[in-house]
Amino acid sequence: MSFFEELSPEMDRYLENNCSQEPELLRKLRRETFQKTTQPHMISGYQQGRLLSVISKLKQPKRILEIGTFTGYATLCLAEGLMQDGLLTTLDINEELAYLPKKYFAASDYAARIDFRLQNALEFLDQTQEVFDLVFIDADKENYLQYFEKIKRVLSPGAMVLFDNVLWYGKVLEENPKQKSTQVIQELNKKITEDPDFENLILPLRDGVHLLLKK
Ligand SMILES: C[S@@+](CC[C@H](N)C(=O)[O-])C[C@H]1O[C@@H](n2cnc3c(N)ncnc32)[C@H](O)[C@@H]1O
Repeated sequence: MSFFEELSPEMDRYLENNCSQEPELLRKLRRETFQKTTQPHMISGYQQGRLLSVISKLKQPKRILEIGTFTGYATLCLAEGLMQDGLLTTLDINEELAYLPKKYFAASDYAARIDFRLQNALEFLDQTQEVFDLVFIDADKENYLQYFEKIKRVLSPGAMVLFDNVLWYGKVLEENPKQKSTQVIQELNKKITEDPDFENLILPLRDGVHLLLKK
């Protein structure tokens, strides 16, 4: 469910109708995600997918990191801007669903440039010696603060970072929230805004995307 969809279904339809079309492979992947998975709403979806594609094409990254592959929809959107000699590493811990992203990555133009790993992202961030130009974080919200702290070490100068779901269905406006994930996201948005090493803004698309630019 998108933020605009909740506010106004007509506006959501208007936004979708005035947006570039997704590639056919992505249309199929979106369809199969809704047929085969129990939580299809986790997919980035049409409009956000086009946002990720445009950002990646503007940035032209050599190294991309995605935390939270799910069925691979956002991965393939991000890959649209990846340099020819680039590599996109995408991480997930759900072994049962891995057959789906694997199938679609293999069928895409980016098969040789996608490094799909079944690995806990916290463990990966502690171990990697690489640096990334574009990072998309879309996994367990309880760990968002840890992801923010740990990615700082692995960003290239001028790197872009995107955190998904930072409006948390509007719950970020709650005072003294009881839900741990709401507390974490509120804290994350505050920490990012106060960090002098980043320029940032929240795009109110879908459930909110926090866009960070490393100075
Ligand atoms: C919202 S979905 C990702 C959606 C995907 N980025 C897309 O746009 O289609 C979140 C995913 O994060 C994965 N995940 C949760 N905790 C994780 C962790 N610690 N490390 C890596 N992946 C994790 C889940 O298994 C789930 O598939």
